[in-house]
Amino acid sequence: MGVSEEQHKAEHRGRPTNDEFRAFVAAEWAPRSTDLPTESPAAPYAALRRSAVSAAFPGERLVIPAGGLKVRSNDSDYVFRPHSAFAHLTGLGSDREPDAVLVLEPREDGSHESILYFRPLAGRDTEEFFGDSRYGEFWVGARPGLADVEAELALSARHIDELTEGMGKDIGTTVIRIVRDADRDLTAAVDAIRESVTETDEPRESEALRDADDELAHFLSTLRLVKDEWEIRQMRDAVDATANGFDAVIAALPEALQRGRGERWVEGVFGLHARHQGNGIGYDSICAAGDHANTLHWIKNTGDITGGDLLLLDAGVEVDSLFTADVTRTLPVNGRFTAAQRKVYDAVYAAQEAGIAAVRPGAKFSDVHDAAIRVIAEHLHAWGLLPEGIDVGATLDKEHGHYHRRWMVHGTSHHLGLDVHDCALARREEYLGAELAPGMILTVEPGLYFKADDLRVPVELRGIGVRIEDDILVTPDGCENLSAAMPRTSSDVEAWIARIQKS
Ligand code: GLY
Ligand code: MN
Ligand code: MN
Repeated sequence: MGVSEEQHKAEHRGRPTNDEFRAFVAAEWAPRSTDLPTESPAAPYAALRRSAVSAAFPGERLVIPAGGLKVRSNDSDYVFRPHSAFAHLTGLGSDREPDAVLVLEPREDGSHESILYFRPLAGRDTEEFFGDSRYGEFWVGARPGLADVEAELALSARHIDELTEGMGKDIGTTVIRIVRDADRDLTAAVDAIRESVTETDEPRESEALRDADDELAHFLSTLRLVKDEWEIRQMRDAVDATANGFDAVIAALPEALQRGRGERWVEGVFGLHARHQGNGIGYDSICAAGDHANTLHWIKNTGDITGGDLLLLDAGVEVDSLFTADVTRTLPVNGRFTAAQRKVYDAVYAAQEAGIAAVRPGAKFSDVHDAAIRVIAEHLHAWGLLPEGIDVGATLDKEHGHYHRRWMVHGTSHHLGLDVHDCALARREEYLGAELAPGMILTVEPGLYFKADDLRVPVELRGIGVRIEDDILVTPDGCENLSAAMPRTSSDVEAWIARIQKS
């Protein structure tokens, strides 16, 4: 769908649309509904999160942009997804609300007023209504008004045009911090406002501003380490939807083989179900058949799937609230593992079991990796793959060099939530070195990857790559595998494939 001839001329030649047309297009529309939306179930949880932020930064103006539309090419934008910090603190998900900015405005008493500046629906008497292909109702649909958003989110809403004035208020006496990576233009504008009141233009001043912003971003990232009950519900939904997507892929495997370009078919089938059940995929699916499984981030998905292959599918549904699952299953496409495939698979399964068993409150995050990688190292040692004279203890000891990493170079776990690699700004001592606590959700995802050209391993293992990944909730007395409904042992995986393909 192109830009209209008339609009093209108007935009490119600066010719205004004429008054008669404007009057004509503004008239004879049914009145808009005046019903306000009900409050979002996410709103009270988002309010609690904002209270925590408020308490940590009393007296300061805190700016959390949603980010803007991003150009894919020429005049086509990507589908909008708000910055995760913005989604977390507003409860807005899906495609809302491009260019919006959440401002926590300090009050005298040290608390904050939450104000959402955004672009409300434009009147039918405006040029935007019919003439703006990026924001106009004719082009991208209607948006909510200020009162709608206030009712939905239980916060104050203002027109985005008032943001500049709001930002500059009491600038000489009010500290401003902004989440820098959400909206480059707004960050530059805030930098300019702040620099206008600093007395010198020394680089040290800008560095200090940047450090202050980083502190806010860090706080917001670690605020997501422990999930509240609403977030845990979102994660359960994401995992359930993901399980349906995996079932659909298994059902589609014979067709994927028969059509050729099977990895693409698998990507499409999972994507279809992700889009149907949720907002979409939470990250690019890894649909890796045969030796492609040994490329850790194989998201090209351009290959065939051939009978006898293993298919490593690492995929997750992001639900409408933007929480995502992250699950991997490695499936024998013929329905049965070969002896060599099973040997590798069972080793990875044993490692994953050891990792999951280590998840409990009070354990260190890194204990999970330590438990899993020990089992990986034991198998590699038993199979004679470690260098001469290097036993399990030696390879696990960094001093000697982690030889096992040739076959599993990645970590076993990461936090999971709004981002697939959630809480990424947490410091080492808050992440790997921290104790697990109830409400945290992490993956446990060991693997073994024997590349087709790895001359160090026996011929029958070459080209086999296996990862098993589940999403684990830390509970008060241990853990719960949220993705436990998806079979994991080699025999259960075979039974799963048989059941789905028979029905
Ligand atoms: N899907 C990315 C990961 O497992 O971390
Ligand atoms: Mn993962
Ligand atoms: Mn994954």
